[in-house]
Amino acid sequence: MEDRRRTAAVILAAGKGTRMGSQVHKQYMELFGKPLLYYALLAFENSSVDEIVLVTGPGEVRYCREEIVGKYGFSKVTAVTEGGKERYHSVYEGLKAVTNCDYVLVHDGARPCVTGEIIEAASQGARQHKACAVGMPVKDTIKMSDENEFAAITPDRNRLWMIQTPQAFEYELVLRAYEKLMSSEKYQKGVTDDAMVVETMTQEKVKLIRGDYANIKITTPEDMEIAAVLIKRNQRDK
Ligand code: CTP
Ligand code: MG
Repeated sequence: MEDRRRTAAVILAAGKGTRMGSQVHKQYMELFGKPLLYYALLAFENSSVDEIVLVTGPGEVRYCREEIVGKYGFSKVTAVTEGGKERYHSVYEGLKAVTNCDYVLVHDGARPCVTGEIIEAASQGARQHKACAVGMPVKDTIKMSDENEFAAITPDRNRLWMIQTPQAFEYELVLRAYEKLMSSEKYQKGVTDDAMVVETMTQEKVKLIRGDYANIKITTPEDMEIAAVLIKRNQRDK
């Protein structure tokens, strides 16, 4: 039977790209003549997602509406809304701007190499487990340092994952988790992803599902060079 439950995507582009250190915020830097954000939007536009909410910085809403959503004809975008100071503020704004859905995928606009397969896996993961995050087992040994940067703890690598987006949830569950987070300041410190919000603010467990090592987040300048290679490869494989 056809699954008529609706899925939305919240795509985040309200960051300042401090670590990139570029004049233009990294999500608007150009790759093959298109802003980086275009590639993530395209993947979601071409997916089974019903609705896309784009969250952007103050003063960037018009640019996104006209120069990205309008120009490239992203017809699934139902809202372009202003984010906030921290990533979790932006997510919360995005969740509130969704019009009608049962499930929601939250994705970093700075991950242009996301594919239809990854989006589908996350959507299915939300249906099956209520909450999931895509990630990959880490390749390097990870150490936690003490405050003087001496190695302190070496966790078992076999259980370490690097977490990516999309992260997908039952809409009511993640909205409730975020509402709770917004009203309790002590939990807000160090929140870097949505799974963490669901983990700490609800009883629900978040399933980790395999994404792709190529689903990188553009963070520092060399990531742009890597993304160029990966985007070309994705386009060739189509
Ligand atoms: N993001 C957001 N709102 C914020 C902070 C981040 O929407 N207040 C988005 C970014 O635009 C990005 C994603 O969240 O798509 C992941 O964040 P990150 O890679 O940390 O991007 P920036 O915060 O822009 O970069 P930096 O931390 O280097 O300043
Ligand atoms: Mg950041």
